[in-house]
Amino acid sequence: MADLSNRKFAEAGLNQTELDAEMAAVKRADRPWNEPKNLRASYDAGDDVVAVANAAYAAHIGDNAIYSASSYPSLRRYEEGVVAMVCEMLNAPEGAVGSVTTGGTESITMAVKTARDWARATKPSVREPEMIVPRTAHPAFNKAAELLGLKAVRMEKSVDHRADLEAMTRAIGPNTIMIVGSAPPFPYGLVDPIERLSGLAQQHGLWLHVDACVGGFVLPFARELGHAVPGFDFDVPGVSSMSVDLHKYGFSGRGASVLVIRDEARAKHQGFNFEAWPAGIYRTANIAGSRNGGAVASAFAVMRYLGRAGYRQGVACMIEAKQRIAAGLSGIGGLHVLGQPEGTHFSIVADELDIFAVADGLHERGWLFSRGVDPKAMQLLLNPRHGAVVDQFLADVGEVAALVRAGKIQSRGVGPVYIV
Ligand SMILES: Cc1ncc(COP(=O)(O)O)c(C=O)c1O
Repeated sequence: MADLSNRKFAEAGLNQTELDAEMAAVKRADRPWNEPKNLRASYDAGDDVVAVANAAYAAHIGDNAIYSASSYPSLRRYEEGVVAMVCEMLNAPEGAVGSVTTGGTESITMAVKTARDWARATKPSVREPEMIVPRTAHPAFNKAAELLGLKAVRMEKSVDHRADLEAMTRAIGPNTIMIVGSAPPFPYGLVDPIERLSGLAQQHGLWLHVDACVGGFVLPFARELGHAVPGFDFDVPGVSSMSVDLHKYGFSGRGASVLVIRDEARAKHQGFNFEAWPAGIYRTANIAGSRNGGAVASAFAVMRYLGRAGYRQGVACMIEAKQRIAAGLSGIGGLHVLGQPEGTHFSIVADELDIFAVADGLHERGWLFSRGVDPKAMQLLLNPRHGAVVDQFLADVGEVAALVRAGKIQSRGVGPVYIV
């Protein structure tokens, strides 16, 4: 077998058998993305859904979406279909403009770029544009600000683990062009007060972007199931744009998200057009040039396969699992879900226990999840299959919490230190 430590670009290629052996060896330490104990971002809605997504992806894996107008009209049909369905799901008004990007970060970056250029056209007095973001907003907003020459004013605190409206109001100044809310943000999973942010945006003539990358395919169905979901979409009048990821709870293959902008007057500041090129006119809606057609094809396929009923059923399973976890934790004592998360991801915090010691013990038993640092938390993100592992998870939490209480598992912050 090839020497894996040798990273030289070898003169001779491998045959398929050699290559398979080499890659199997390299891959040995990987964990399957959708193993049942993966409570991190593992958007698995079932074997049938994964098969639908993968088949559509594979069927279009060689097709470049940049040539959809000429060579791949199917990709254009998928893209239009996906955008129309997403717009309907988010109550976007007639005339809203949607486009497919490669992921949440690109959707967010393009929202910021569109807001910046809209402000250049409509607020000529603003020389150094600023955007106000809650503490919990995704770092992609800071990345976009850095790339696009804006100042990101990030709040220092959350109020009840949601956006700090008062501080955001105080931060508004003559250079502010944009504010942000998340439905919900990754930390805590608690939806920001979008209706109040909308009021603020309307009062000051600001662009309000709602980041629903995680919640966009969850909250509409949670609401249909009768759960309390505050206004978060285009029904809220001050919302200018929204980002929703197809490759998260849309259950598509990776590389697909949608950015929706409320109207053409705003969306006309989005695209890129370059005409002084010997190869001809170059025009793209978003950042990517070449884009794998497989991603949007798989999103289209899954949305058509599941229908609204399929997504609603998936959300029902996840909410039930969330409620069982919350109830189970109160039975264990000392641990609880932070706040009342509207969606399907949330933080678990501890009153007097060292939650990182509990997390270390659970990791040792094979559970995968992220950690929050302020407050220290275990962050779980559910998929529709997790209902099947809730009992095992709670049993392990109970046992590990008892060991932590007994001083038999301690965490020193860096890694687990086991006394047992
Ligand atoms: C709330 C939220 N917004 C945006 C993103 C960025 O998405 P992506 O990783 O697809 O760029 C994430 C990623 O987890 C997220 O949780």
